Amino acid sequence: MKHFMSVEQLSMVDIQSILEKSHDLRQTTCHINQRVFAANLFFEPSTRTKMSFVVAQKKLGMDVLDFNEGHSSAQKGESLYDTMKTFEAIGTNLLVVRHPDSAWFNAFTHNMSIPIINGGAGKSEHPTQSMLDLDTIYQEFGRFDNLDVAIIGDIKHSRVARSNAKVLDKLGAHVYLCAPPGLADDTLDFPYIPIDEAVENCDVVMLLRIQHERHHELSHTNQYLEQYGLTKSREQKMKPHAIIMHPAPVNRGVEIDSDLIECRRSRIFQQMSNGVPIRMAIMIKLLQEWGMIYDNTIEKRQHFIGGQRLGAV
Ligand code: CP
Repeated sequence: MKHFMSVEQLSMVDIQSILEKSHDLRQTTCHINQRVFAANLFFEPSTRTKMSFVVAQKKLGMDVLDFNEGHSSAQKGESLYDTMKTFEAIGTNLLVVRHPDSAWFNAFTHNMSIPIINGGAGKSEHPTQSMLDLDTIYQEFGRFDNLDVAIIGDIKHSRVARSNAKVLDKLGAHVYLCAPPGLADDTLDFPYIPIDEAVENCDVVMLLRIQHERHHELSHTNQYLEQYGLTKSREQKMKPHAIIMHPAPVNRGVEIDSDLIECRRSRIFQQMSNGVPIRMAIMIKLLQEWGMIYDNTIEKRQHFIGGQRLGAV
């Protein structure tokens, strides 16, 4: 794998190896005993993706270069491509990029001689989010085949919906979509079902935020929770073993009742925790495949802090 751009490029073997590595990293972390410079070029806001990449990079012992779009030469009109080439020229070994252009990775990556990871591309793809979502589902059910997964909310503007629907379908899950009027996306070839059917019948209920930054539909959301969201009464009708997921950030009280965010079924914060080992696994895989790091420079380490062993990455 040259760059980590889209779930469509991932083979079953790729997915399995990343999930296995993430599992291993939760037991025993890794440190790369080589100098590796990483930079996270975020041209859209982010808390989870950017910060979990930073934690993952620091756990692996990488030098993380500071990039802030608002204080960069992007403000003088420098393009994304020239920014990426600049980081390559000064010796950066790996880039993570988030950009509002849905196709930025198609235009630029063939000219890059360092690995690039897609940290979010407009409305099209968020493949590292998909991998941490797969990790969370696999931890829960130990399989994907024949699971019923409902993706509910602002499908039309969601890169998470697009990436997850495609990869879950590839893995044998049954994907159902559910969206308020105007927020469906008919280019996705999956059945749309009503919210009550989705909540009552599915093993995974995956909610999406209304992407207010991408459109002006549904600016008034007073009735959204009752009409299209996960209320407490709907949650009580879920199957006993069914789980709630959400890529976050969450609009509390809009797509999900605030009290459900940390309920026993919710895996929302577990998804975020899984973001660290999954992103470590993806970076190790890419750097190994590029021949930038070698097995004998990857040191396994226990999770110790102050003499006490820690249980998780
Ligand atoms: N889930 C997700 O991509 O969150 P951030 O926008 O905070 O990175």
